[in-house]
Amino acid sequence: MEKILITGATGNVGLSTLKLLESRNYPGVEVVAAVRDIERARKIEGIENCNFCHFEFDEPATYDRALEGVTKIVLIRPNQVSDVSRYIFPFLTKAEKSGVKHIVFVSIVGAERNRIFANHRTENHFRKLSIPSTILRPSLYMQNLSTLHRLDILAHDKLNIPAGQGLVNYIDVRDVAEVIVTVLVNSGHENQAYEITGPEALDFYQIAKLFSNELGREIKYTRPSTIRFVRQKLLDKKQLLYVLTLSLLYSAARIGKMNYTNNVFRTITGHDPRHLVDFIHEYRESWIRSELSKEPENTKKRLYRPRI
Ligand SMILES: NC(=O)c1ccc[n+]([C@@H]2O[C@H](COP(=O)([O-])OP(=O)(O)OC[C@H]3O[C@@H](n4cnc5c(N)ncnc54)[C@H](OP(=O)(O)O)[C@@H]3O)[C@@H](O)[C@H]2O)c1
Repeated sequence: MEKILITGATGNVGLSTLKLLESRNYPGVEVVAAVRDIERARKIEGIENCNFCHFEFDEPATYDRALEGVTKIVLIRPNQVSDVSRYIFPFLTKAEKSGVKHIVFVSIVGAERNRIFANHRTENHFRKLSIPSTILRPSLYMQNLSTLHRLDILAHDKLNIPAGQGLVNYIDVRDVAEVIVTVLVNSGHENQAYEITGPEALDFYQIAKLFSNELGREIKYTRPSTIRFVRQKLLDKKQLLYVLTLSLLYSAARIGKMNYTNNVFRTITGHDPRHLVDFIHEYRESWIRSELSKEPENTKKRLYRPRI
């Protein structure tokens, strides 16, 4: 019997992973979603009937209960939990003591090289643990376009992304989830690290065109500087650490460091990852003007604030 614990289970990657594991219903596998607010989690479509446990990285008192009987962990570090020595490492020590056999850690592209990333320090910490781990380094998530960048596209017809003429190889979080589940339920991936890219590298002029074609109105790529981008996102009340991490990745893209793809997704799963054009089509409602009226009042106030 395996018991899999997923942290960050209501977020982008965690939710997709939870839904995928539930839909596959592997025999002898129990799945538990570690969440901060069980009542809120139960209201999320598609996971109403999942097993939940109360868990907060910054509340060590929640660790022991969450780890009871757990054999494998999908570790997703929330962006806001950046003090990893204080909140992630002690959790991993407890996991080691409680006999966890395998951890799949969702890191980020470039984390092995960038000391500034909290995921870099977490990756290194795994070397000190006896638990076998698999480190996944996904590229930028397509879902950033329907979250962080959504209002720019929806209300201003702009892609405000500081990547210059650089290319990026976006990956869909549902594909990241598929890799997580595959390496979790099949042996042979212990103590490996995989960078996962999407199927193609595109620049933001091409990406703006994909949006324009799908939405039937012109979406312009504005090529802001990193400083303008960060200031705008802070005015939009986005999380500082999330914005800074993405700014670093867009800066890397600008100097050509994300202009490639690899075959890792295909090798692990046996098929190709999703294309950006299909993601934009599938999520088109996120950027459709008629959807604006459904925005909460506090978001609406920010919507038409001029871009800086
Ligand atoms: N964005 C990208 O392009 C990208 C690309 C590659 C890798 N990554 C990595 O992906 C990770 C973020 O994953 P994501 O985008 O799926 O996250 P996300 O959507 O921001 O969700 C964060 C999750 O963590 C939970 N959470 C927040 N604070 C918590 C706490 N103190 N204790 C326990 N749980 C807490 C949230 O729960 P609530 O529902 O309670 O808020 C939510 O489930 C980061 O490590 C990032 O470096 C990001």
